[in-house]
Amino acid sequence: MKAVIPAAGFGTRFLPLAKAIPKEMLPLGDKPVIHYVVAEAVAAGCDDILIILGRGKEAIPAYFTPNPDLERHLEQSGKTRELAAVRELSQFGRIHYTYQAAMRGLGDAVAHAREFVGNDPVFAVLLGDTVMHGGSPLPGMVAAWHERHLPSVALEQCPEEKVSRYGVAGGRQLGPDVFALDRLVEKPKPEVAPRLLDQTGATLPFHAFAARYLMTPEIFALLADTKPGYGGEVQVTDAMEALRAQRGFLGVRWAGRRLDIGHPKGLLEAAQLYA
Ligand code: G1P
Repeated sequence: MKAVIPAAGFGTRFLPLAKAIPKEMLPLGDKPVIHYVVAEAVAAGCDDILIILGRGKEAIPAYFTPNPDLERHLEQSGKTRELAAVRELSQFGRIHYTYQAAMRGLGDAVAHAREFVGNDPVFAVLLGDTVMHGGSPLPGMVAAWHERHLPSVALEQCPEEKVSRYGVAGGRQLGPDVFALDRLVEKPKPEVAPRLLDQTGATLPFHAFAARYLMTPEIFALLADTKPGYGGEVQVTDAMEALRAQRGFLGVRWAGRRLDIGHPKGLLEAAQLYA
């Protein structure tokens, strides 16, 4: 399976730092955030990865590019631990890069993966500024794909006061953690946000999209037709809603902790966990 990692945004909440240092390169322990995202994709079986960059994100390819001089130096000076850490990066398989020309939104960033995905039946999308703590939702989403052949989004419970910050799902329960979605809305007000229903028809708490998706390639034609939505940007959520109407879309509930490092407080919390 191929994976697409959007890492193009300006990093507005980290300005002025993000002018020169991509937020995806900020450290969690001894590794940058994007390291964990790529490792998660590889662990889920993705051997071909496209990272969508924006201007000023050159540190990301620099990080993943092999450095034989450095490896030789570490080898000659007997620094085996450091050598192993640097070599781990070469085991990540093929990583490709492309640039999003203008910051037109997440939907526009994903649209840049059209040629890369080609005719593959399904591909993963992992937002590059989010680390999934407590296990990746991707294996559950891949299992749901094998069972039902439908695209999916990871869902996490969301308190009412944060609903308007996320994509929000409505639908009904099919299995313990799998839902057939009937509405996908980007950043709704809580009073109009959709809800999930369990198997008895009871309303569950709000559930938001949690930075991981399995998409089918029909999304690209739908993205090309998607007009700017919330915030004047092309929203991937709007194309997902169109794909849901056409083919169906699953939500896969996930109980881990999403570490959004796109803002200083989120990074601080994440860094404490990884220290
Ligand atoms: C994006 C998506 C949103 C999702 C969120 C967290 O929003 O548009 O649907 O819930 O990531 O995964 P952003 O945080 O880029 O505003």
